[in-house]
Amino acid sequence: MNKTASLETPTPSLSPRRRKAYIKTYGCQMNVYDSERMQSVLSEQGYDQTDTPDTADLILLNTCHIREKAAEKVYSDLGRYRDLIEERGEDGNETIVGVAGCVAQAEGEEIVRRQPLVDFVVGPQAYHRLPGLLQQVQKNRDTHSQGKRNIKVRTSVVDTSFPEEDKFAHLPKQIRKKQTSTAFLTIQEGCDKFCAFCVVPYTRGAEVSRPVQRVLEEAKALVDQGIREITLLGQNVNAYHGTDATGSSKRLADLIHILADIEGLDRIRYTTSHPNDMTQDLIDAHGTLEKLMPYLHLPIQSGSDKILAAMNRKHTASAYIDIIERIRSARPGLALSSDFIVGFPGETDQDFEDTLELVKTVGYAQAYSFKYSERPGTPAVSSQDQIPEEVKAERLEILQALLVQQQQDFQQSCVGQTMPILLEKKGKSEGQLIGRSPYLQSVTLDAADDEIGSIQDVLIVASGNFSLRGKKVSISS
Ligand code: 5AD
Ligand code: SF4
Repeated sequence: MNKTASLETPTPSLSPRRRKAYIKTYGCQMNVYDSERMQSVLSEQGYDQTDTPDTADLILLNTCHIREKAAEKVYSDLGRYRDLIEERGEDGNETIVGVAGCVAQAEGEEIVRRQPLVDFVVGPQAYHRLPGLLQQVQKNRDTHSQGKRNIKVRTSVVDTSFPEEDKFAHLPKQIRKKQTSTAFLTIQEGCDKFCAFCVVPYTRGAEVSRPVQRVLEEAKALVDQGIREITLLGQNVNAYHGTDATGSSKRLADLIHILADIEGLDRIRYTTSHPNDMTQDLIDAHGTLEKLMPYLHLPIQSGSDKILAAMNRKHTASAYIDIIERIRSARPGLALSSDFIVGFPGETDQDFEDTLELVKTVGYAQAYSFKYSERPGTPAVSSQDQIPEEVKAERLEILQALLVQQQQDFQQSCVGQTMPILLEKKGKSEGQLIGRSPYLQSVTLDAADDEIGSIQDVLIVASGNFSLRGKKVSISS
């Protein structure tokens, strides 16, 4: 049962004192983007961001439900905050605790039942209603604390509705405090694909694309704030079908062409894509648009046709390889990434071998791999053919060893190359910056802080598994 708060436009802070909000983000880049947007809402409500929960007046967990471990982590973190919140309470400081994201959407009231210290639960489609939720929490607290200040009575508020209105249109613009030159921009949410293992179609709902004009305005605003690289986000980003000013539907390739005309925007990426939406116009864009970076995350999940069918992926391994070949012929040297699941119900040794074969055929620059995790409400849970945990673990180890080897090979192949590196943020040591290669690798190099935001020609001098070490050759722009 959802108590849905009415749609409130952000109201001024209830008290003149600026308070502190700690937002912890779990899971995917979409959550990173959502957290930034929620931060803007909270800023209008009188909250400044803090990096630690210790002194926070508001703790907000933006959660992930994709695998069991990710969801359970939220409950263990909430448990850890309890002492902290009680200690603050003894000193007369109140802490509001909220749970947002996909666990909020999937579990709703259950969260409050399991962890009563949670004051509000808000699903991903209702973030623009945060001000109303906070007011409701405060009202509930004031009512219940009259005359008994030390007795903690919690009445929580839950909003996991899928409102009609576009939440993005009601959210305040992003406020960027950190000095950086890269940003995420969500252009599409939800998924209609219903892969048999995945909770996303249930937690994020049906596919919705934001209108072209809104995306364009947001991209321009980011560039005006010094952003030079934008990653377009969507659970199924290449299924994008937003309308333009004339009402006609545009695909992702059209949108990228439109964004590529923005002066000052130098790099465009998009993630995550589905092979079946890798249309020829999008493949061609990789060949014709310099600004579209030569790196693509294109998950296949398994190399076995039988498992792909059972997963409801609706394509075969050879169809995927064909797409890869077409992309590579459009943009030679493009680096690839994927997601893999091992131990999906019914996966035999041979099916797993097929996955290893596919990995060897494609050759990935990097990839993510997971043990299949049973998710409540998804079709694969009811399969009688679940794979024992130890088999999953063994297969994961074998697959990861192969993927790590490929990643190391790719990293090593970059040594000796000179690449344009976008300087993104400060490094660990003084006088060091971290930049991004066209292939999304982190590159550490000596450079001054005021060079953040510039693109430099950098000679790669050494490689590690996850990052490269570089040396400036000259200033290129
Ligand atoms: N078990 C394991 N991995 C999963 N993923 C999604 N659902 C599950 C699940 N139930 C993985 C897929 C997807 C990535 C985001 O998470 O590989 O591409
Ligand atoms: Fe989940 Fe499949 Fe949709 Fe990706 S395409 S979000 S894996 S259902």
